[in-house]
Amino acid sequence: MPIYHHLGEVPHKRHTVFRKADGGLHAEELIGNKGFTGPSSLLYRLHQPTPVRHVKPLRDLRWVPEEQRTFRHRHFRTHQLGSGGSITLDRVPLLFNSDAAMLFVQPDREDEFFYRNAQGDEVVYVSEGSGVLETLLGELTFSAGDYVVIPRGILHRYRLGPGPTKFLVIESTGYVRTPRRYRNEHGQLTELSPYSERDLRRPANLQTVDQKGEHRLVVKKENQLFELTLVHHPFDVVGWDGFYYPWALSIHDFEPRVGRFHLPPPMHQTFEGDNFVICSFCPRPFDFDPEAVPVPYNHSNVMSDEVIYYASADFMSRKGIEYGSVTLHPDGIPHGPHPGRTEASLGEKRTDELAVMMDTFHPLHVGKQALSIEDGEYYQSWVER
Ligand SMILES: [Fe+2]
Repeated sequence: MPIYHHLGEVPHKRHTVFRKADGGLHAEELIGNKGFTGPSSLLYRLHQPTPVRHVKPLRDLRWVPEEQRTFRHRHFRTHQLGSGGSITLDRVPLLFNSDAAMLFVQPDREDEFFYRNAQGDEVVYVSEGSGVLETLLGELTFSAGDYVVIPRGILHRYRLGPGPTKFLVIESTGYVRTPRRYRNEHGQLTELSPYSERDLRRPANLQTVDQKGEHRLVVKKENQLFELTLVHHPFDVVGWDGFYYPWALSIHDFEPRVGRFHLPPPMHQTFEGDNFVICSFCPRPFDFDPEAVPVPYNHSNVMSDEVIYYASADFMSRKGIEYGSVTLHPDGIPHGPHPGRTEASLGEKRTDELAVMMDTFHPLHVGKQALSIEDGEYYQSWVER
């Protein structure tokens, strides 16, 4: 995150004596990626972050692909997934490769343990629900439409608000960032960006807990979960500063672009990772020339697998799609509007669509668990009957 942020108390200079009220030294800790050269934050804690009393393997999370690779357009209905469980333990892997994964979870309870993903950044799209993400760097409140970005290594725990909760989780091997072309050479989002730093929400309300005793921490590493027993509460940070922390952007703060004629999906790009991008399709007026064709033209997405999560039931170019649908249009087969959609779109003035797109530059696998919610006839839905 290219914005410097700080909360709580930090010493005047880094790596200097910084004493607690009892005269002891605070424990200084750097959290950042790519060793000491990537984005990082410097934390000051009441206790050393290092003591671990016990470690035990908790669960194998290996994502299992379908046994027979299938080559066709795919459609999955997430509303057919069973709901309930833990937001961290019960995510259903729908699609994945070595760069990115899309998972879905509808938790009905809060975790009493803390969680840290040590193998990937997470972008959690809140399709339904609200709550607070508690982290050792402060709190982020979230509600429907938020993208909550949690860089790897950030210890956290969810507090859920009332009502049903649906999270679409995109896990990324590479660092999730704002698209390079939206930033100037100094890192600031330019006037050409569809959102600004003002729209990016950063942690607030740093809680410092000085509590000895055993606390459970679940860490994801190499597609396995491990349970660590800590000897004090991990939210013991009195202050921190830097560039590495969780942050949030509401899809409703993404300003869609509109042209005289149809603008392509990169205009909707919201984030980038390594070998994949995330785009947001938001309510907007259609293209304004009287001769414009509002729906997209057919396209062959060469070197890209396209995934769309439909965050509302309204999508201008598709039939048979419902809220919670996920479609995969793989490289190698063209896709485009369903029969009749192009003609029907002429003269339309606006769309209320809301969707999250993940485009990967390497092929995706379909998770075995996704097969039970697949609409197996989707690939034939372009055939006129
Ligand atoms: Fe497409």
